[in-house]
Amino acid sequence: MAGKRGALIVLEGVDRAGKTTQCSKLVQALQQSGRPAEMMRFPDRTTTIGQLIGAYLENKSDLEDHTVHLLFSANRWEMVPLMKKKLEQGINLVVDRYAFSGVAFTSAKPGFRLDWCMQPDVGLPKPDLVMFLQLNPAEAALRGQFGQERYETSVFQRTVQQRFEQLMKDQTVNWQVIDAAQNIENVHKDITAHSLNAINKAQNLPLGELWS
Ligand code: TMP
Ligand code: MG
Repeated sequence: MAGKRGALIVLEGVDRAGKTTQCSKLVQALQQSGRPAEMMRFPDRTTTIGQLIGAYLENKSDLEDHTVHLLFSANRWEMVPLMKKKLEQGINLVVDRYAFSGVAFTSAKPGFRLDWCMQPDVGLPKPDLVMFLQLNPAEAALRGQFGQERYETSVFQRTVQQRFEQLMKDQTVNWQVIDAAQNIENVHKDITAHSLNAINKAQNLPLGELWS
């Protein structure tokens, strides 16, 4: 086993698609099958930068739109040394949101171009697999009301969904679309199958750089 790196696995999707639930289930399943795995999430609200982001999302502070975009990106970059260390140690990282959320959410605001939004995240560790939990707005609505945080409105989320669709056209990223309308166990089975495949392939490949 020595020398084999872990895989970087990302779950993306609009709010209420089940990302957090599925990340936990995946980590548990990987660990139970003897594969080291840990969960991470972005934004990571525990750091100094993350606390600024948290206050913004909870509407406790206002930040200029470009500024908060760069803070979200900085919040990923500050975790890169730790991520690389863990991957080198053979730990598989299961990440709840990544740069794709960063681009999809900011570019859903008026006046933001996709390429401007992507630039700060160019060169981040490239995920070996990005699974997009696909759930249409009607299905999402059945899962209950949005919370109180910024961005949690159906109009904004529809635009976010369109931005994700644009990002998924990028063939340099290993996107897999998962039907998140299935029951939790079937979604989990799909996610596990894609993840085991990615873990096996990643062992023999160097870690890439995103969008570069
Ligand atoms: P969370 O609910 O998964 O904690 O995510 C918080 C919100 O932040 C969610 O609405 C998506 C948004 N977001 C961005 O706007 N930019 C980013 O880079 C990330 C990771 C999340
Ligand atoms: Mg949320």
